Amino acid sequence: MLRICSAPWKQLTLPAMLIRMMTKRTANRGIYTATVQCNDRLCDEHYRLTLLVSDFPRSTPGQFVELHTQAAPVDPAHAHLEWEPDGPFPHPRGIEFISPRPFLRRPYSIAAHKTENGASVIDIVYRVIGRMTHQMEALRVNDRISLIGPLGQGFTIPAGTTRVILAGGGVGIPPMLYLASHLAQQHVPTMALIGVQRQSLLPLRVIDPGPSNLPVPQLCIEEFARFGIPAIITTDDGSLGVSGRITSALDFVLSQLAKPGVIVCCCGPTRMMQATAEVSQGYGVTCLASLEQPMACGMGTCQSCIIKYRSSGAADWTYKLTCTDGPVFNTRDIIWN
Ligand SMILES: Cc1cc2nc3c(=O)[nH]c(=O)nc-3n(C[C@H](O)[C@H](O)[C@H](O)COP(=O)(O)OP(=O)(O)OC[C@H]3O[C@@H](n4cnc5c(N)ncnc54)[C@H](O)[C@@H]3O)c2cc1C
Ligand code: FES
Repeated sequence: MLRICSAPWKQLTLPAMLIRMMTKRTANRGIYTATVQCNDRLCDEHYRLTLLVSDFPRSTPGQFVELHTQAAPVDPAHAHLEWEPDGPFPHPRGIEFISPRPFLRRPYSIAAHKTENGASVIDIVYRVIGRMTHQMEALRVNDRISLIGPLGQGFTIPAGTTRVILAGGGVGIPPMLYLASHLAQQHVPTMALIGVQRQSLLPLRVIDPGPSNLPVPQLCIEEFARFGIPAIITTDDGSLGVSGRITSALDFVLSQLAKPGVIVCCCGPTRMMQATAEVSQGYGVTCLASLEQPMACGMGTCQSCIIKYRSSGAADWTYKLTCTDGPVFNTRDIIWN
């Protein structure tokens, strides 16, 4: 076992150093221990994790948390790397990871955040794909986990917006749920476009899938219908709702609407967000995207989440950090490749 810690950094382990740097840099975010209230299976690969957290700061839709299933993030006994030569995960330098315990935290969008009896209740909707999410799948009521947050810059709806179209694809659906609740509170006319590969990967409750041939928004998804927000479901394989890509539905919807004041807010796989941006810009409509770049620290330290960025009118592009400058950007400013 190789442990990264001690002398030069006054016994601080690498994660503890990162956490200390983060808490020094920002005032309204911190490290919290959260108690699991429920961890419900929503569909084939998605769960909703509901967490109770005391003193968690206010958050905005589009912000995220860095989560670890360990409840004690700065305990040196837990904050170490475990490397051994014969593990199952190949490493370029011939060293292999064998620990089942993830080393780094993982980022998750806040899907809902409300206050009950002075404590925050936070929902995270996650898809089980790897080491951390397999551990999250095993969480039970009253288990304790660690959160850093709220992180990043969320959605800012421009003044003069008359209608918002939410476009959520796959693991990009959760921030759309939180944004929908905020827009409903502010009485902004909103509709939702929800795209998944197939019915069994939709982490939402369907009231009525709607017509399969025409993308007509209706109160078909409970999580949006409770706010009076009509939605369109698309599936790549046609197993539910309209067959095809979410961008085809967006194209149809935008072709039917008066454009002034309309904006699109999207989250999902990078290619989906790029295509959503292209369709929106084709109609002269502003598109805000919450990017899901792979992230390590989530707090502006490791530089692993850079994107190329050129603000309008600027001659040259520059780098931006998705975790601190974003994750929400105006797609007009993103250089996608
Ligand atoms: C700002 C932000 C918000 C996010 N919100 C959510 C959310 O609400 N719900 C949710 O389910 N997921 C979300 N994600 C993605 C989530 O962080 C990853 O799914 C998670 O890290 C998986 O961890 P794991 O240990 O289970 O999988 P790992 O073992 O880390 O990875 C399993 C496989 O998935 C790939 N992978 C992991 N993360 C990404 C990524 N971001 N992009 C492309 N491929 C990746 C890995 O390369 C690997 O092949 C978000 C990511 C970001 C940056
Ligand atoms: S994730 Fe480390 S700098 Fe963005």
